[in-house]
Amino acid sequence: MSRRKITVIGAGNVGASAMAWAAAAELGDIVLVDIVDGLPQGKALDLAEGGPVLGFDADLTGANDYDATANSDVVIITAGLARKPGMSRDDLLAKNKEIVGGVTKEVAARSPNAVLIVVSNPLDAMCHVAKHVSGFPRERVIGMAGVLIPRASARSSRWSSACRLKMWSHSFSAATATRWCR
Ligand SMILES: NC(=O)c1ccc[n+]([C@@H]2O[C@H](COP(=O)([O-])OP(=O)(O)OC[C@H]3O[C@@H](n4cnc5c(N)ncnc54)[C@H](O)[C@@H]3O)[C@@H](O)[C@H]2O)c1
Repeated sequence: MSRRKITVIGAGNVGASAMAWAAAAELGDIVLVDIVDGLPQGKALDLAEGGPVLGFDADLTGANDYDATANSDVVIITAGLARKPGMSRDDLLAKNKEIVGGVTKEVAARSPNAVLIVVSNPLDAMCHVAKHVSGFPRERVIGMAGVLIPRASARSSRWSSACRLKMWSHSFSAATATRWCR
């Protein structure tokens, strides 16, 4: 039986955590991509070695190029600069626009049917960049803005624990998110 394929772009704090949570919840096979040589490969290998202990069998791959991401069902974009003390999210705009735009172009060409989940900041602007560059319909470009949703409402929703997240987007589609987060 074929399994869902999830790509995570950016192997930093957010990207590596996303891969770990998705693997532990067995949401699909995961490809982790970063520009730093060896980083995503090392993190994927480390996590894969925990699979037999934690009881998941997701196939985890690290890469520095995009060929391994082809035909992904979901692409999570976490690549970019993170805020440093004294910086606002908006201070990241110019550089992360360049990074997210470049990443989106690569993944959209190889996974034209994917759902994009954008995490990189400033989030609202990066969602627009991803939507514009990919040309995807708005239902397939979703922003992820942390666990800001009231817990009670998250608990009462149908979403799995891995997806108790507030997903934000001007174009957010609950139906799409629910389908992929089951
Ligand atoms: N939406 C949210 O709730 C939320 C929460 C936390 C962080 N963020 C944002 O997520 C982003 C990542 O945060 P982080 O803490 O993981 O940062 P990080 O610095 O730990 O990781 C970012 C990774 O992106 C990689 N990267 C940079 N340019 C790249 C490119 N062109 N292609 C592929 N990889 C590239 C870096 O090498 C690095 O490994 C930041 O923009 C941060 O502000 C958003």
